[in-house]
Amino acid sequence: MKDTTYPPSDAIVAGAHVDAAGYEAMYKASVETPDTFWGEEARQRLDWIEPFTKVKDTDFTLGQVKIKWFEDGVLNVAHNCIDRHLATRGEQTAIIFEPDDPQTPAQHITYNELHEKVSRFANVLLAQGVMRGDRVIIYLPMIPEAAYAMLACARIGAIHSVVFAGFSPDALANRINDCQAKVVITADSAPRGGRRTPLKSNTDAALLHCSDKVRCLVVKHTGDQTTWIEDRDVDVKAMMEQVAPDCPIRPMGAEDPLFILYTSGSTGKPKGVVHSSGGYLLYASMTQQITFDYHDGDVFWCGADVGWVTGHTYIVYGPLANGATTLMFEGVPTWPDASRFWQVIEKHKVNQFYTAPTAIRALMGQGTGFVEGHDLSTLKVLGTVGEPINPEAWNWYNDNIGKGKLPIVDTWWQTETGGHMITPLPGATPTKPGSATLPFFGVQPVVLDPTAGTVIDETKCEGVLAIADSWPGQMRTVWGDHERFEKTYFSDYKGYYFAGDGCRRDEDGYYWITGRVDDVINVSGHRMGTAEVESALVAHAKVAEAAVVGYPHDVKGQGIYAYVTLMNDIEPTDELRKELETWVRTEIGPIAKPDLIQWAPGLPKTRSGKIMRRILRKIAENDYGALGDTSTLADPSVVDELIENRMNRG
Ligand code: WTA
Repeated sequence: MKDTTYPPSDAIVAGAHVDAAGYEAMYKASVETPDTFWGEEARQRLDWIEPFTKVKDTDFTLGQVKIKWFEDGVLNVAHNCIDRHLATRGEQTAIIFEPDDPQTPAQHITYNELHEKVSRFANVLLAQGVMRGDRVIIYLPMIPEAAYAMLACARIGAIHSVVFAGFSPDALANRINDCQAKVVITADSAPRGGRRTPLKSNTDAALLHCSDKVRCLVVKHTGDQTTWIEDRDVDVKAMMEQVAPDCPIRPMGAEDPLFILYTSGSTGKPKGVVHSSGGYLLYASMTQQITFDYHDGDVFWCGADVGWVTGHTYIVYGPLANGATTLMFEGVPTWPDASRFWQVIEKHKVNQFYTAPTAIRALMGQGTGFVEGHDLSTLKVLGTVGEPINPEAWNWYNDNIGKGKLPIVDTWWQTETGGHMITPLPGATPTKPGSATLPFFGVQPVVLDPTAGTVIDETKCEGVLAIADSWPGQMRTVWGDHERFEKTYFSDYKGYYFAGDGCRRDEDGYYWITGRVDDVINVSGHRMGTAEVESALVAHAKVAEAAVVGYPHDVKGQGIYAYVTLMNDIEPTDELRKELETWVRTEIGPIAKPDLIQWAPGLPKTRSGKIMRRILRKIAENDYGALGDTSTLADPSVVDELIENRMNRG
């Protein structure tokens, strides 16, 4: 059966930045003459203090991996996101802040106001001794101060690392220590969906495990009472009133790190993905404008959290570099009820809306009653990100939100890629539900044979997805561990950046991402290393061994399925199951809580002791009929026991 294809409407094509012919020509130029293509884009899109003379200097060869763009150029990211807009759009809204509680008035922050807030915030950081290259941890709710803090770092050349407010004190401490942060910025508490997360007390707990030199900057947001440690804790808002309202920008090299963002991999602890100042900003700006077909005056809403890369690129850096109006939403889609998204779109006349398939599925489950009666007529483009979107959710989004008329951009990318890699363009690409379609400019995807590692030339094929050459938004290194960077992304398939995803390519050359091929699972669009959950579980005194895999989950996309072997004399009980769930929540955060825990007296292992995850995955998927070759198992009877007592019988 041929897939249904949705061509862009005439209306979209007419006003679009890029149409089908434009896409072809620009794509060709971007891969055939990257220096000219990206050199021009960088000169046009960004303000440079010192122009660059060299565009691209990159090498994917294992042992000498090097990613450099515009290396001798000098610029400042905050200047590009704020100052240069003041003359023409100082009074335009830069950020619309929509608070968690719909009764609390929204805020409209103009570019002039943003300039002052960011400058004051930067002066607060300087007063704390934060210097160029120092690391600053940001552990904040989705409030304007999160954007101020990020841009304040950029203004003075400090490197920020945002930690999602849903992470636990332990996870926060690990990140503070890994990058040896000088300062952590937090708030008293974070309201979300009518509940509050005590961020300051989490930070207090984290800081017990960190150097006592780390200063704690607190944004008093809710007014909740917190403990206060003199000489360590600083009231940010009070300090902002005292410092000067302007702060000179610091000229930075294009390759100076802008931020570190920790992300899960298949092994070990989360790694600090490092992004650059010049290449990253260029890529953020270009993708935000072109993928969403953003035009001056539009209101752009990316519903992600700034704790993830999507929030970095498409709430803060991309839109602000383009002088856009960007919406920041503190709440959740289902509170006070499942119409909140549609209320916000109506209230702020949103033109582009970007969310995750898991949110769409959650809302789809609540029925269309919550959509009806809301004026969504301002919408022009819809987007999704984070995981493959199932055609059912795509169709629901298309029918009920897009009213069958709007382009849907299904954007495939990663923390590591900085911005969109494979995505439709609204005025150029006919879409097919479930396909991320075609590469963005400069991106050269290849499908590799998973075992041989060779490039598959046939258009229609299936294999692992890799990228043949660098693009400006690519991560530069793993913080403090360049060897790990090379090993993680360039060692499995020599000469390519290996993304960790599987894919298929159809007869039209469209890419369909089939999900992770490593031990990373995607829970509600959040990346989770199974190894992290396992090490949290085995850290519990009653647990001897644990193996964690993903399984299909109706709303979350994937759920977390944990096989747990208890210590010899421990009784498996429902209370213990609850205890372990709570344990993982506190060790990592609520997003890591296992959905299903199966007691496993034994785990299937090879004779050399390696756990056979393939089998565990099959059992978790309730697809144990086709376990494949089990002949290498040390004790095949273990498998029958696990099947017998499996937890997912859906
Ligand atoms: C998955 C989020 C299919 C993929 C920006 C990738 C997707 C991982 C899509 C990165 C999509 C993201 N279709 N899968 N449109 N977008 N993914 O680092 O497995 O949090 O490797 O970045 O999410 O997750 P990350």
